[in-house]
Amino acid sequence: MSELFARGRIGGLTLPNRFIRAGCFEGMAQGGNVTDALIAHHRDLAAGGCALTTVGYCAVSKDARCFGHELWMRDELVGQLQRLTDAVHKEGGRASLQLVHCGFFSSPRVTGKRPIGASRKLCLFRLSICDEMTQEQICTTTTDFADTTRRAKEAGFDAVEIHAGHGYLLSQFLSPWTNRRTDEWGGKLENRLRFPVDVIRAVRAAVGPDFPILVKMNQMDGMKGGLVLKDALSIARAFEQAGASALIPSCGFTAKTPFLMLRGKLPVKEMVANQSEWLIKMGLFFFGRLFVQYYPFKSVFLLDGARAIAEEVSIPVVYIGGITSAADAQQALDAGCAFVQIGRATVRDPAFVQRLQKALATSSDCDHCNRCIGAMDGGGVACLSAREGSLPALLTP
Ligand SMILES: Cc1cc2nc3c(=O)[nH]c(=O)nc-3n(C[C@H](O)[C@H](O)[C@H](O)COP(=O)(O)O)c2cc1C
Repeated sequence: MSELFARGRIGGLTLPNRFIRAGCFEGMAQGGNVTDALIAHHRDLAAGGCALTTVGYCAVSKDARCFGHELWMRDELVGQLQRLTDAVHKEGGRASLQLVHCGFFSSPRVTGKRPIGASRKLCLFRLSICDEMTQEQICTTTTDFADTTRRAKEAGFDAVEIHAGHGYLLSQFLSPWTNRRTDEWGGKLENRLRFPVDVIRAVRAAVGPDFPILVKMNQMDGMKGGLVLKDALSIARAFEQAGASALIPSCGFTAKTPFLMLRGKLPVKEMVANQSEWLIKMGLFFFGRLFVQYYPFKSVFLLDGARAIAEEVSIPVVYIGGITSAADAQQALDAGCAFVQIGRATVRDPAFVQRLQKALATSSDCDHCNRCIGAMDGGGVACLSAREGSLPALLTP
């Protein structure tokens, strides 16, 4: 326990313990604005012991969005975000902003535009086909990442997290499953790395040498023709050289293997209820379990890949995936990771970290029903089992 609650550093930022709230889309940014609910959510996580709380999915431009209730960076957002970072700082916490471009997974219903991606590709979840990005669009998007980071720093964020995993735009360039380009942005890994590496360099140049830049990446995409761990080792080295302060090796592709990064039950009923596109709704209703693959939950399910990546780089590796107890977190540190990110256990209970520290709980009672995924589109992320009282009281030693 003492190691888990010892100080640790990411870039120029010292954190009081090793627990970070993972980016978990809150569904609380109606109209793309910061709401009181979003502020309260992160204030509670900071008060509940997370050393750093990550605000999920801030799109780097209006056209980069998946959802209408998602943040997207612009001048008027800076003051709104400042209220959020002030609230977190008042609780003694620190805040990080996750930066994303959804690429071919962006929603045309939300943006009113045809999505862009590494190569032309059909997205079954959106029933859309994206355009292959031009060189000019690649350069503009690189600048969008840098500008978003500059504004995040101005708004009082202590760190940013670039999303280069889970099948979003940067991940779409890295993955041979989505990148079939024949120019200098496609083909061999060195070329597929060019855009994500340029983004990290541009973000680093925008904020100076010490500002913490975490990068979420994939250990593997999880489908035939996708990235595998061997590629991820080279990607990790390239990201370190480009200026990343820490790496978060996750996995999965939202458009193909969305539950690989989560594991556990498929919340088909909630996914159907929250889908507004009737054709996709019907598809999910009738074929949900065929369409979306099931992966059983196991605690610390990404440990081997995280260990391999930690051996490749000298910057901190932040473990993510299935942390449910202090013992799980300790396993991640023993494997060479410096921090852990936690998603569902902190959705279930924002004071989970504090409860571990005070020995009021040994593990989370989250049952990985994953209905919190449905909740983020139905009023805001929350543990529905806890709300319904269908979980036992928190486990005590
Ligand atoms: C409700 C919910 C929302 C999520 N939203 C995001 C997100 O916005 N960005 C992201 O990178 N990952 C997102 N994830 C994935 C988590 O960051 C994390 O990778 C996953 O939950 C596994 O960690 P856990 O076992 O601690 O929950 C989300 C997960 C959940 C449960």
